[in-house]
Amino acid sequence: MVYRLSSLLVVFMAAAISIASEDKEIYVVHMDKAKTTALDNILGDSKKWYEVVMDSITELSAEEDGGEEASAPELLYTYETAITGFAARLSNRQLEALNKVDGFLSAVPDEMLSLQTTHSPQFLGLKFGEGLLTSRNLANDVIIGFVDSGIWPEHASFKDGGMKRPVPSRWKGVCEEGTRFTAKNCNMKLIGARAYYKGYEAAAGKIDETVDFRSARDSQGHGTHTASTAAGQMIDGASLFGMAKGVAAGMSSTARIAEYKACYSRGCASSDILAAIDQAVSDGVDVLSLSIGGSSKPYYTDVLAIASLGAVQHGVFVAAAAGNSGPSSSTVVNAAPWMMTVAASTMDRSFPAIVNLGNGQTFEGESLYSGKSTEQLPLVYGESAGRAIAKYCSSGTLSPALVKGKIVVCERGINGGVEKGQEVEKAGGAGMLLLNTASQGEEIRVDPHVLPASALGASASISIRNYTSSGNPTASIVFKGTVFGKPAPVMASFSSRGPALKEPYVIKPDVTAPGVNILAAWPPTVSPSKIKSDNRSVLFNVISGTSMSCPHVGGLAAILKEAHKEWSPAAIKSALMTTAYTLDNKKAPISDMRPNSPSATPFAYGSGHVDPEKASKPGLIYDITYVDYLYYLCSLNYSSSQMATISRGNFSCPTYTVLQTGDLNYPSFAVLFKRNSENNSAICKRTVTNVGYPRTAYVAQVHEPEGVPIIVKPKVLKFRRAGQKLSYEVRFADSGKKSNSSDPSFGSLVWVSIKYTVRSPIAVTWK
Ligand SMILES: *[C@@H]1O[C@H](CO)[C@@H](O)[C@H](O)[C@H]1NC(C)=O
Ligand SMILES: *[C@@H]1O[C@H](CO)[C@@H](O)[C@H](O)[C@H]1NC(C)=O
Ligand SMILES: *[C@@H]1O[C@H](CO)[C@@H](O)[C@H](O)[C@H]1NC(C)=O
Ligand SMILES: *[C@@H]1O[C@H](CO)[C@@H](O)[C@H](O)[C@H]1NC(C)=O
Ligand SMILES: *[C@@H]1O[C@H](CO)[C@@H](O)[C@H](O)[C@H]1NC(C)=O
Ligand SMILES: *[C@@H]1O[C@H](CO)[C@@H](O)[C@H](O)[C@H]1NC(C)=O
Repeated sequence: MVYRLSSLLVVFMAAAISIASEDKEIYVVHMDKAKTTALDNILGDSKKWYEVVMDSITELSAEEDGGEEASAPELLYTYETAITGFAARLSNRQLEALNKVDGFLSAVPDEMLSLQTTHSPQFLGLKFGEGLLTSRNLANDVIIGFVDSGIWPEHASFKDGGMKRPVPSRWKGVCEEGTRFTAKNCNMKLIGARAYYKGYEAAAGKIDETVDFRSARDSQGHGTHTASTAAGQMIDGASLFGMAKGVAAGMSSTARIAEYKACYSRGCASSDILAAIDQAVSDGVDVLSLSIGGSSKPYYTDVLAIASLGAVQHGVFVAAAAGNSGPSSSTVVNAAPWMMTVAASTMDRSFPAIVNLGNGQTFEGESLYSGKSTEQLPLVYGESAGRAIAKYCSSGTLSPALVKGKIVVCERGINGGVEKGQEVEKAGGAGMLLLNTASQGEEIRVDPHVLPASALGASASISIRNYTSSGNPTASIVFKGTVFGKPAPVMASFSSRGPALKEPYVIKPDVTAPGVNILAAWPPTVSPSKIKSDNRSVLFNVISGTSMSCPHVGGLAAILKEAHKEWSPAAIKSALMTTAYTLDNKKAPISDMRPNSPSATPFAYGSGHVDPEKASKPGLIYDITYVDYLYYLCSLNYSSSQMATISRGNFSCPTYTVLQTGDLNYPSFAVLFKRNSENNSAICKRTVTNVGYPRTAYVAQVHEPEGVPIIVKPKVLKFRRAGQKLSYEVRFADSGKKSNSSDPSFGSLVWVSIKYTVRSPIAVTWK
């Protein structure tokens, strides 16, 4: 019986199986959706397609083994919504056998990916009761799904006070029971919680339940922080030790939260992430916030990209972290055009900790230390306060005799800032100055220190190092609390940069959002420094990363979705991109903490910093359908098997060209020219949809990239009705002025009407 069912699936081929190995590995296997659907129809309810596939693999691999009894592959997950396929532990022989299974598309080894607010609503110009946050838009109908490290459900940010409307009836999610998690942990705010760990346990061993939970409960803080950033309730007087004090509120404090835990202490297995995304889409989320990332790879092997396309196909907006591997070029991940790739930048808030040196010099550092300022005290450089390695103030390197009562100067590196402070305190020190190297630039890590401490940028650090070698150096640290009004946003040095290493045909990242020193909810059982020896408990914590900027955009997408129910994921993305700004709060170009780069470029912030109120009224939209994305992949010359993997077998590229790569209706322009080549040119076509006033005329304003003359045709777009679509084209020429340069050129095309400004950045690279 089993065999007959198998033969239904199997395409017999002559290929011999040569590799014999008992080593088994976890694979994510992509299957043809039509084939699996057909099989299910034949089988009726009795047997699901994946059981038949498992049986087939077992039979086939055993056959090649001379009929020996073989163990069936261990099935971890089946995927049916965002992707079609399964995850299973397979031997090499079973992997080979898959090739003979009709409907098999491709298999990718499982891998471990990594996890990469009080003030941010005001910084983003959101005011409760005004504009976007008026009652019409606060209907509690939008559901944001998070794939993360879980959630602390008892936190005040996730209470459901004021959420009177019933959960939308389309919602199919559940509150799964598990370690310290029951159905009672969900409410009208946190409407779903599930956990996925089969892939993780297969790779990293069984979860140690003394340090983590086999449930959606968060043992790391990351997931609690991201969920509350996007959709936490408003809470008065939130702070970390009194710092960053204010009303904590998520971007969309009325949205519902569904948590899908797939990340544990050692990372997130892609098979678990896929199961989470697949279920989230099937449960009915409207927005997915993915603060996770792996490495840059072509889309057809990037499971996050493939699952995200499946989500977009179901109308789900996907926000993803750009990565924390900046400031080097081409470090951006999650760069598929259907994902909203979010970079990280600062807000205008700072936590000044002023350092006064005995020689009269004064420097502004930052700190989340909440205690009293110090007196003028003797200063000692770590290296001269212990062993040679003591400049990092790492464990056990400082000599109490040399440190007692002094402020110790420590270099960043090896261990964390709070740990250094603990070492200094243990050795009897009275304070700490934490110095940046030149490559760390002016980006300051603010930490919740256990003793008076100030972290300083690279230029201040040079002077302080120099001063410590003078006779009898002294210093004091004066804490100024929380201060507003700093130039902002500034791009974080850690924020990953474009152009994308693979498929750089669109500008990435897409936008930037607050991701530096973000205050949001935190589990009371995790110390703010995440160090075991730190036994402090907090309700809110300040952390940084593109993991923090991503849920800001996820939350904003939820508000826009609430305000514009008919907008597609691409339309929401377009609105956020074309209304983003590139000047800071002092009207200067947004700057960059990357050393030696005064102002930031589209390869740091994409279209700019998000501006939600403007995004709600974008005037024009660049829309893109699911099938457009597939035609775009055809233009990249993807093979039929690569296309099949991405489209789940339901698409083959036509033999003629439907779409040129440059014609994807993207809200920004990436132009690639050949280095040292004459007569470079490119044409990009776009179509815009009028979502503003019915009768509006737009005029093209071009800011030419250096060395690249541009012609826009037509120069004026006259709309007569709402929803009308008009097309235009942009011709890029290469004047030759920069064609031997390795530096990109940047410009923009702005469609301007009386009421709206619709801006697209242009990036030209020669390679
Ligand atoms: C295949 O694609 C077509 C059109 O894009 C769609 O109507 C059909 O439902 C898809 N079939 C499957 C099995 O997904
Ligand atoms: C280094 O210190 C000396 C005196 O100790 C001073 O003259 C010099 O200007 C300092 N250099 C810097 C870069 O601060
Ligand atoms: C934390 O540990 C310190 C020293 O080990 C102790 O004095 C303090 O009471 C502890 N605090 C809490 C909140 O447990
Ligand atoms: C795809 O192939 C065509 C024809 O060979 C070529 O012109 C084009 O540059 C290729 N596109 C990409 C993205 O490699
Ligand atoms: C660029 O390089 C090519 C070949 O190396 C050379 O022929 C050409 O003159 C150079 N152009 C400029 C503007 O330097
Ligand atoms: C570039 O264009 C000019 C003028 O159209 C032409 O004379 C020349 O041959 C072209 N060069 C190349 C390398 O195609």
